[in-house]
Amino acid sequence: MSEIYLNVVDHKGAEHRVEALEGWRLMEIIRDWGLGVKAECGGACACGTCHVYVDPAFSELFQPPSDEELDQLDALPGVTAQSRLACQLLMRPECDGMTVRLAPGSEVDQVAA
Ligand code: FES
Repeated sequence: MSEIYLNVVDHKGAEHRVEALEGWRLMEIIRDWGLGVKAECGGACACGTCHVYVDPAFSELFQPPSDEELDQLDALPGVTAQSRLACQLLMRPECDGMTVRLAPGSEVDQVAA
């Protein structure tokens, strides 16, 4: 199996090189590397809190957004042509080298001290 490495830019602008696994959802990879994506509904395409911006050079690798994904994106602030929900994107070998930026609004809530 070929290796897949992604560059994930977190909410503070820091870039992280993370290994991805083929067939996994992008949201799971971001979450498992501890990069702080809220993903409130756990990947059911029902919350919009896994909003990311996908490198346009790689966007063709993924299925176009479903009606459910488009409905969620419609309700989010800061949506661009690069916007996707990370729980709807399955990793494949061709994703190697892709940059993904976490969008505002997908941060994990801060616990009050
Ligand atoms: S995790 Fe809820 S829409 Fe992606």
